[in-house]
Amino acid sequence: MASPQKILLVCLGNICRSPMAEGLLREKARQRGLPITTDSAGTGGYHVGEAPDPRAQAEMRRHGLDISDLRARRFVRADYERFDLLLAMDGNNLADMLRLAPSGRLAAKAHLMLEWSAVARGRDVPDPWFGGAEGFNEVYRLLEDAVNNLLDELAADR
Ligand code: 4NP
Repeated sequence: MASPQKILLVCLGNICRSPMAEGLLREKARQRGLPITTDSAGTGGYHVGEAPDPRAQAEMRRHGLDISDLRARRFVRADYERFDLLLAMDGNNLADMLRLAPSGRLAAKAHLMLEWSAVARGRDVPDPWFGGAEGFNEVYRLLEDAVNNLLDELAADR
């Protein structure tokens, strides 16, 4: 894979999973000195303009990460041009994203986040919205593993 520089993280609401993924990716890329820019978006528009869910913010804060600056926005077709890699948190998000793909070439930028997981390869990041704090901890653990593996690959490709 050519080295992606601009990475978009995508879930349904853009207030739980994808802002957590963005917070992890931007901090770990910074720590490694990798020049990566990040953003996140939701396939649904219910929470546009909102900060991340308080439960997502609390889980990130437990790990020393602040995502309070992030605001939800909707995934749009133009994201296929603006980003090098589009990472979906689950299969439904990926299907919704692929329906908007302008071309087959651009559709190839879209992948499941957990393609980079060692422990749950190709699975969905479970939607934590209806559960309690433990669901957010599970999301964090899955995302941390996948983000580390993705950054290993990007660093090796440079
Ligand atoms: P996310 O979680 O897709 O990880 O941000 C959700 C947030 C909100 C809703 C569903 C999932 N919702 O139905 O409002």
